[in-house]
Parts: sequence; structure tokens; C-alpha cells
Amino acid sequence: MQFKSHTQAPARLKSDCMVIPLFSDDARSNQHLKALPKNIENRVKSMVSRGVLSGKAGETVYLQDDSIKNTDMLLICGAGSVKQIDRESLRVFGGNMITALKNRKFKTVSLLIPDKFNMDKDHSAMSQSIVEGIVLGSYEYTRYKDAKQRSKWPERIVLIAPQKTNKPSFEDGIKTGRIAGWGQNLSRELIGHPSNYLTPQEMARVCRNLAKQYKFQCKVLSEAQIARLKMNCLLAVNAGSDKPVHFIIMSYKGPRAPQKPVCLVGKGITFDSGGISIKPAANMDEMKGDMGGAACVIASIASAAQLKLPVNLVALVPTTENLPSGSAYKPGDVLTALNGVTVEVLNTDAEGRLILADALAYSHRLKPAAIIDVATLTGAAKIALGFAAAAFFVNNDKLRKQFNQAADNSGERIWEMPLWKDYQEQIKSSIADIKNTGGRPAGTCTAAAFLNNFTGDFPWAHIDMAALDVEYKGGAYKPKGSSGYGVRLILEFLRNWK
Ligand code: BES
Ligand code: MN
Ligand code: ZN
Repeated sequence: MQFKSHTQAPARLKSDCMVIPLFSDDARSNQHLKALPKNIENRVKSMVSRGVLSGKAGETVYLQDDSIKNTDMLLICGAGSVKQIDRESLRVFGGNMITALKNRKFKTVSLLIPDKFNMDKDHSAMSQSIVEGIVLGSYEYTRYKDAKQRSKWPERIVLIAPQKTNKPSFEDGIKTGRIAGWGQNLSRELIGHPSNYLTPQEMARVCRNLAKQYKFQCKVLSEAQIARLKMNCLLAVNAGSDKPVHFIIMSYKGPRAPQKPVCLVGKGITFDSGGISIKPAANMDEMKGDMGGAACVIASIASAAQLKLPVNLVALVPTTENLPSGSAYKPGDVLTALNGVTVEVLNTDAEGRLILADALAYSHRLKPAAIIDVATLTGAAKIALGFAAAAFFVNNDKLRKQFNQAADNSGERIWEMPLWKDYQEQIKSSIADIKNTGGRPAGTCTAAAFLNNFTGDFPWAHIDMAALDVEYKGGAYKPKGSSGYGVRLILEFLRNWK
């Protein structure tokens, strides 16, 4: 799908369908209808007064009217109340609009943007949010479906800017929205792939290709190199799998960027069976998504590179399967991580924190300005917060502020949880420095406490997105299936990074 901006009178534009937002408030809110021929304005107003149209969010009604010479069809799309316009309602609008356009065979669709969609002076948050909604709302996982079963979408969306638009900002927002949406869809795609397709090796191949295409660096460490570095926790988790382990290192240097990099770390378990501490069979298939953190950081760095953000970035992805076999690591084993910390394994299903331990310890050599890890780490995060937010841990005030702002702007929620000493106590081992589980109480907090043994004194944020890699409910711009959670959050954080 292509996006274009149009800053002249709407009637001048040729399109197969024109989308017209309708607010649910009174006629004064719907001033933008005046840009249309008088009889259309009157027709819509009359339908509103008779209650045929309400303007409620989610309402979509097609009208055929030949008084706009250059357009075949009109699509009236409810935009809700003017008072509730914010970034999220515009994403929802974009999602509802594109859903109504699915399989309609329109090539070019125009969207008449009301001035009242504008939330600030620069017009970029507005166009960004609408475009995000459109790109995200038109995603489907089609790899194993034949072409006939795939939905058809418009080829071109022309965004008609309201009067007095700041054109560079408006177009900037379109670009940001398009790339953020692309990134999140890439993450959805990676999460959606079954583990017999997306192996650690395939993940490394994807990263190399992205790096080549979007001009950043990618280096992949093999098992021998990982062993030489003494990343023994990562090796232990890989021991039960026949597929080789990989440690992927991507780096992007932005223009005018400060020297020290922001380091992203993503959990890349391509399938988590639990290992010897095997999981129950029900819903185990969902554990193909246990690389949701990896998908998030891969898509984030690829999007940041496309946006040419002025930041230095390194993304680290330890990736392996977690399987039981004759060579698998076992409960009771003791491992020595890259930084020398010894770990007693009490449950081989607590594997994510093990592979992250080595990756976090590795990140120190980059002298990062901040370390951000993203992981589908604990089922307990689902118990604590449900599907409403990711669990968030942070050891630094500036990072906390920046992330809360980024979550507000991106609509991808986080909720802070504590890094208290109590949880360190809970994971002390009697025979090693620490153990890899602290039992049932506060499972999300003890996992974060575990990671804290590998973060040194660096500013660090940990995002446990275990509840959020899959979208169950579905929403306007959230098709059911893999969610791609976190990409908009990380990108928004990076866009404002100082
Ligand atoms: N990948 C799982 C966590 C998970 C659960 C993600 C459900 C998404 C949905 C993780 O590796 C795991 O198994 N964690 C264990 C830890 C426990 C053994 C201490 C868990 O949460 O049960
Ligand atoms: Mn596990
Ligand atoms: Zn896992």
C-alpha cells in the first residue's frame, strides 16, 4: 500500500472511493463536510438528523453519489466525539476505515481529513496515527494460504490534508506511521511463523537480509564463538536442541548521534517446550511466539534505520530452541554465566532469563548509554496484569520518564513493577550465587531480579511482554493473532532519545 498526501481542494482529486469521517457530535464538529458539494453535505446532514448515521466509532456506510465527478463511491466512517480525538482514536479510525475497504477492489482511495483530527500544531502525530491504523489494520498472516484466500487492499491511499496544514510535518508523520506500521507487521510476521520455519538459523538470515537492505551492520556468532566467549547459560539452553544456537549482533549508527549506543536485547526462543521441565500439552503451540522480544528488537532496529533516527543502536538476539533430549540441560545443573555469576537451574522452563543473562552481560562491552531488554519472560506477567499492559522494570529515573511518555504516545502500555531486594533474597541458591526460579510468589519480579544480576550499573529497562505477543480479542487495528507488541513503544522511545 502506498501513501500520498494531497493539499489541494478534495474535489480536484481522482479516486475510486473517498472516505469521509463523521463525528458523533453536532453539525459544528462536521465543518469538513463543507469541502464537499452542497448536496452531499445536505444528504449526510439529513441522514444524521433522521438517525440513519450516528458518527459513532466503528460505523461505516457506503454512499453512491455522482455529484463528485472524480469519485465513484463515498465511505462514511464514524470518528466518534471530537472531544475524544487522540492518537489512539485515530489509529482505531484508520483500522476501521481499512477494514471497511477490504476486498472492495478500489485501487485509489482518498481520505478527507477534518481539521478537528489535528491534536497539536505540527500535524505529524495526526497523520502518523492514521497511517499506523491503516497499515496495522490491513495485516494478515498469509504465508501458508494461497493467493485466492488473501484479502485485497487498496493500492494507494491519498490523505487529503486539512486547510493550513504544515505540509512537511504532515508528510513526516505519514512516513513515520508507515515505517512504524511496517515494523510492527514485520514483528507480527516473525511471531506468526511456526518454529519449523523460523529456526534460529532462519532468524539470523532474516537479520542479515534486513541489515543489507536497510544499511546497518549484522554479525552472527556461531556456537564455537559463543563457547569461546563462555556464554554457558545460552549454550545450556541450546543443549537439548538439534538446531544450532546463534547470537545475533546488529548495529546501526545514526547521523549526528551521541557516541554511546542504546542497547536492545530480545529473547529469541524459537520454541519453548519447557525442556526437561516440560510444559503441559494444551496451548504449547503458542510457544512458537517465545521470540516475541527478538522480533520486537529486530523490527525496531530495522525501522530506526529506515527512519534514519539520530541514535546509535545495537540489538542483541540470543536465539535457540528449548527442548528435552538426551543431551538437554537438567534441573540441578549449575551454570557459570559470561560474567562469572553461577546459576543453579531448578526449572529448565525458566530458560529465557538464562539466555538473557549472557546477552545482558555481553552488552557491557559496548559501554551502552542504556540497556533495554524485551522478552516473553513469565506466565506470571499474565496473572499480574492480564492483557492490558506489559510488566516494566527500570533502575533509572530518566529512562522511566522516557518510557512512560513513549507508552502514552504509542498506545502500547507498560506498568512499572518493583526491583526490591526482597526478590534477590528469594532467588539466592544454597550451592551457587543464584537459582533460576524463586517459586510462585511474584514470578515476574523474581525474574526481573534475576536479570538484575547481569546488568551492572548501566541504566536498564526490562519489558516482560509475555501476555502480549498474541492478540486474542482483536480490535480495529489489531487483527487476531500475533500482536507485534513493543515496536511502536521502542520506536517512540528512540525517536525522542537524548
Ligand atoms: N516463555 C515462557 C513464559 C510465557 C508463558 C510466555 C506464557 C508467554 C506465555 C517462559 O520461558 C516460562 O516458561 N516461564 C516460566 C517460569 C517458571 C518456570 C519460573 C513460567 O512463567 O511458568
Ligand atoms: Mn520457558
Ligand atoms: Zn520461554
